[in-house]
Amino acid sequence: MKNNRTCKLAVLLFVVTAMTARAQNFPSNTDESKVPPYTLPDVLQMPIGKTVINSNQWLHAQRPYIYHLYEKNQFGRYPATKTISRFKILETDNQALDGLATRKQVRIYLHPADTSVYMDVLLYLPNAVKTPAPVFVAYNFSGNHTITAEKNVLLSNRWMYFRGKGVVNNRATEAARGTDTASWQLKTILSKGFALATAYYGDLEPDTATGYTTGIRTTLKEVLNIQPDEWCTMGAWAWGLSRIADYLQTDKNIDAGKIALMGHSRLGKATLWAGASDPRFALIVSNESGEGGAALSRRWYGETVQIITAHFPHWFVAKYKTYGDDVTKLPVDGHMLLSLMAPRPLYVASAVEDTWSDPKGEFLSAREASRVYALFGKKGIDTSSMPPLNTPVGETVRYHIRSGKHAVTLYDWEQYLKFASEQFGLRR
Ligand code: GCU
Repeated sequence: MKNNRTCKLAVLLFVVTAMTARAQNFPSNTDESKVPPYTLPDVLQMPIGKTVINSNQWLHAQRPYIYHLYEKNQFGRYPATKTISRFKILETDNQALDGLATRKQVRIYLHPADTSVYMDVLLYLPNAVKTPAPVFVAYNFSGNHTITAEKNVLLSNRWMYFRGKGVVNNRATEAARGTDTASWQLKTILSKGFALATAYYGDLEPDTATGYTTGIRTTLKEVLNIQPDEWCTMGAWAWGLSRIADYLQTDKNIDAGKIALMGHSRLGKATLWAGASDPRFALIVSNESGEGGAALSRRWYGETVQIITAHFPHWFVAKYKTYGDDVTKLPVDGHMLLSLMAPRPLYVASAVEDTWSDPKGEFLSAREASRVYALFGKKGIDTSSMPPLNTPVGETVRYHIRSGKHAVTLYDWEQYLKFASEQFGLRR
């Protein structure tokens, strides 16, 4: 009788424990008091057991090791290319935005023979700057025509994931023109002396599980000598950012040593992978990139690996999904992705109402990555408590938490422009 009860109790305990473990992984938590303790992999701990003590060890041993962990577990291979892109200037207007800027629309052909494989870059150059300009590169979510109301900007004819204003049957119509100007703050960017280069992320690959069948992972399979499952949608998007850098390096109006990358949300994740993979990006900004980006997967708050891989299976390589049930087995975490930017200036930003992206996790991740910056004598974030709202902290690694929702706002751009001006040594 007693044994029987003990047995029942044991079974009950087992079920409760299993359910708790599962509950910690699957549903999302937004109650700070419920965040269980967790231990991050030490970014400076080398596989041979030693701790990295200088930048040389970091650059030649630990960084390649961590980068490889990302290739294997999250993003796949970043295909090398022997400058296959060809560029065609489709349109130029040196009196764009009432004379503030020169607008260029550049088609980047990605395939040596098939001219249907391309991405279109919309570039604004500040007319007031007479020397080659520093530039921000950032993908847009719904087509180049959404970032400005200018009539001559080509209307994207690609498939659209986001069904915002003016999108009918997943395709843009004229009514979509200028519908996302608030995220771009073109006049502010240009008047601070920066150029802006943007492209629609769907030019590379549609944002669906089957998008790869029509995207570059299929159309460039032979050219790049890589199978679709050796990389992922995030990888394809990130790779496209490198192709924008290819073009910018050829444009005499651009200072190719001052190419800054900015990405929001899912595009923030792609931006971090591009920053990790391509050293030509001299400064990197993650705007609310969240899970799979700047946030810490081991911190049970906001989106989880299990949720993200269930909703967006195409974003990462298949291996990433296998960590959904037990994220402690994932050999990397957000701070390690951020550390791959070092010693280049890095800005990580959150918004207080964007609990899905786990602002605190993003902050702690940036603080942890700062240990790598210290190897280069650079100061990152050294405070251990979250800063007050709208108060950037840190030097070469900077962080802010803004009031408001998941978005890119004027406040965000103002901080990024100030940061880039300081870090690039510009007087603006
Ligand atoms: C979803 C997704 C996030 C992503 C976001 C976005 O909310 O779960 O991971 O960052 O979309 O890209 O807007």
